[in-house]
Amino acid sequence: MGAPILVIFGITGDLSKRKLLPALYHLFSQQLFPSDIKIIGVSRKKLLIDDLLESVELCVSEVDNVCDPVVIGRLKSALETFKLDPADKADFILLKKRLGKLSATKEHEYLFYMSIPPSAYGPIVENLGAAGLNSKNCRLILEKPFGYDLQSAEDLIKIVNASFSEDKIYRTDHYLAKDTAQNLLTFRLYNPIFSTLWNAQHIASVRIRAVEQIGIEGRSEFYEQTGALRDLIQSHLLQLLALSMMDLPADLSSEQIHRSKQYFLEQLLPADPANATRAQYSTYCQEVNNPDSLTETFVRLHLKHSAERWQDVDFILETGKALASKDTSITIEFKTNHEHPSNNLHFQIQPNEGISLQLVVKKPGLANTMAHTALTFEYETAFKASQHIEAYERVLLDAINGDQSLFASSSEVLATWRILEPLLENWKTNNDGLKLYRSGADPSTII
Ligand code: BG6
Repeated sequence: MGAPILVIFGITGDLSKRKLLPALYHLFSQQLFPSDIKIIGVSRKKLLIDDLLESVELCVSEVDNVCDPVVIGRLKSALETFKLDPADKADFILLKKRLGKLSATKEHEYLFYMSIPPSAYGPIVENLGAAGLNSKNCRLILEKPFGYDLQSAEDLIKIVNASFSEDKIYRTDHYLAKDTAQNLLTFRLYNPIFSTLWNAQHIASVRIRAVEQIGIEGRSEFYEQTGALRDLIQSHLLQLLALSMMDLPADLSSEQIHRSKQYFLEQLLPADPANATRAQYSTYCQEVNNPDSLTETFVRLHLKHSAERWQDVDFILETGKALASKDTSITIEFKTNHEHPSNNLHFQIQPNEGISLQLVVKKPGLANTMAHTALTFEYETAFKASQHIEAYERVLLDAINGDQSLFASSSEVLATWRILEPLLENWKTNNDGLKLYRSGADPSTII
């Protein structure tokens, strides 16, 4: 593979500030990037390298409380800026020239990262193609949401595929890149006592939850167009569900993982609006300055699967903002032949990553009284000295290494929109069902 040149469109945007710039810093700090990597921050307005570095320092200090000047120095020597008007074809020719200069002495791999909303990346992708920046040494990294509904996702896929072939497209889903989400496959593959239980005969329900304490954090425009269903369920939660419940792939190649996920997603039945709850936190309308907003900030969805293996299993997806605490987890409820909920298997993805298995035991003493207890494993205590890789660091490294396993394929994207289509249609016209909750509420109180 040639030396990588990472070209980031939208370097001054919210996602870059919150996730990408700190990830770049950490990769330099841990010396995980190839030493010959170059990074080009693209923006519409002229951007000085020192201004960009200042914003890296600010973002990193916010996340880590400290920022090492030595690492900033390393980043500085790899970093450049480039002013570009996305609508101006001539600017893409200039970009190509600049890339050509950087690649003059050795082979390079170009990675174009669209850290911008999908409505903005169509013309950029077309212009990259028109400038010939889509040849075999070029990859495209896209951010979610991949469309707004099924139709727009199909349109977007067409636009992107006209310039880049599927094997060159990396659709980011940073939840799949979280280390503990990655552990799902290892857990299922290497703990055979569970594999015989992974079916409807033994499992009653699977709950995937990603609730947050934070609200929309000033992203009014983005959130008003998106809402909780598109923001987290269409992407992160359906992907986590597929990873947890798909047939185990024949091997761990990207191709086999995608085949299994797609097969699982395509058999999930379309969502039934009667089995969905949507709600909004009570100060949301004021925050987005739209008293009539019907955007949901909370969703709970019950889904069913058509395969016999998952007959009648209740798949529950739940997400929301401004709730009591952050909790990203997967809970698998095993069936019992008595009235006690006994063997829930719980994967805590964040915070306090770990796995626990709930058991019923007899309380000590003469009386035959039952108690619930848990076998618990915590990452932090078990692997104190291990290297910790954040999701966006993994996303960048995998894209550089050409590993598509953790990225969503176009077929998966279309399958997830198909599942949600009845809800999107129903919610467009039916305004009755939106409930209100107070900020800091416990999700179980939203019914
Ligand atoms: C993003 C959503 O994809 O994930 C945000 O757009 C959300 O709304 C974020 O806050 C949550 O990510 P994490 O990694 O902090 O759980």
